[in-house]
Amino acid sequence: MTRRQSERMRQQRVFIQTFGCQMNEYDSAKMLEHLRGQDYVRVDSPREADLVLLNTCAIREKAEHKVYSLLGTLSGLKRARPELVIGVGGCVAQQRGAQILGRVEAVDLVFGPDHLFELPAMLAEVAAGGRVVHTDWRHRTERVANFIPDFGPAVGSAGDVKAGLAITKGCNNFCTFCVVPYTRGREVSREPDNILAEARALAERGVKEITLLGQNVNSYRAGGVNFVALLRRLNDVPGLERLRYTSPHPKDFREELAQAHAELPKLCEHVHLPVQSGSDRILKAMRRNHGIAEYLDKMLMLRERVPDVALSTDIIVGFPGEREEDFQATLDVMRTVRFDQVYAFKYSPRSGTPAADLPDAVPEPVRAERLERLFALHDTIVRERSAALIGTRQQVLIEGPHPRGAAMTGRTRGNKPALLPDSQRRPGELVPVEIVAARKYSLVARDVTRDS
Ligand code: 5AD
Ligand code: SF4
Repeated sequence: MTRRQSERMRQQRVFIQTFGCQMNEYDSAKMLEHLRGQDYVRVDSPREADLVLLNTCAIREKAEHKVYSLLGTLSGLKRARPELVIGVGGCVAQQRGAQILGRVEAVDLVFGPDHLFELPAMLAEVAAGGRVVHTDWRHRTERVANFIPDFGPAVGSAGDVKAGLAITKGCNNFCTFCVVPYTRGREVSREPDNILAEARALAERGVKEITLLGQNVNSYRAGGVNFVALLRRLNDVPGLERLRYTSPHPKDFREELAQAHAELPKLCEHVHLPVQSGSDRILKAMRRNHGIAEYLDKMLMLRERVPDVALSTDIIVGFPGEREEDFQATLDVMRTVRFDQVYAFKYSPRSGTPAADLPDAVPEPVRAERLERLFALHDTIVRERSAALIGTRQQVLIEGPHPRGAAMTGRTRGNKPALLPDSQRRPGELVPVEIVAARKYSLVARDVTRDS
């Protein structure tokens, strides 16, 4: 046997399936990074794997259902191959804990988001014959902590043009509909030097665009460094070309941040600011800590400083007690702000959250119908917003070839998907373009490098 063959034999094969938000994507990438250092290789199917990890999402009921349905399929695999190890991590794991072991016999390991980096030790416990649950909290009383361990130079996957980067974890807001404070715990900010080291390592590996991640990024504070100060430091990282962040909270969105968008060359002209509802009565019941006038004033302030800023938002329809006039107020906000992108959801009751016990549930057909009307309005707005970009100059960061046809794809600084037909550009290149057409989901762009 060659050395290579014997090395391969020692290697364990891991398959990971990620549900939910960008933070979960980031956590999965970190788990893989950690496991790679422990002689694991990644495989693309649970059939080829010795270890299957599900990184789960609990934000809505549907997301949780998907986890149990996949666990059903995996149980079949494990019957055929009892040595297969199945681990459930993420937000469902944190919330349901040992219940998962009771519900699905095939599961060996349940671990919350605070235990991502203890995988080798937890897997050793499983190998010793146990079914293991780890859902206790880390960093319980700390406001600042290095919650992402350093794995050395192999940060991120080679060839990535874009990457996420966690700056906070957890949330202290307790919006009444949201399960996150219960699944991710109290808010902790990561130390600035630790964040900068990861940003530099990513840039050295060729990453051009970083999205700062956290449940409430703009309340970031570590010692004397607030969110805007952190953005200023990141703006100086050599090789990095673009900075974004998600998600900020309207109550912490201040003039200083709007001004940073006008001043910092790398900070993109794009802000995702969740509004959730256009009705003051509903915002209050959601415990969002601001009224709709405050939200609109902040958007106006931002547009005054950055006229071509692209705006996106999250909206929940059918929160308990939402009447037609409340929903109309949400549509009014959409008409006023004219968002470029809207992530809208039907309210989904989550056990343990205050809203789950509220009276006056909106019937499912009404929720569905409101969501449809909201999307119809947004369709019109998005068509008009995209059409208005025809003839403008933009910058596109090339991400890769289009799956069909001879074209490269990328995004503008406003985060709109763009298509460059017949382009020879490589991933990672920043290309000055003119927008020549607007399709429903993307802009068509022409390389203008040689024009000027
Ligand atoms: N039901 C529906 N949508 C929800 N969100 C959070 N909790 C719920 C829930 N219980 C939405 C919010 C949030 C986004 C990430 O998910 O709009 O901003
Ligand atoms: Fe959930 Fe509100 Fe925290 Fe966002 S700010 S994670 S919606 S509790």
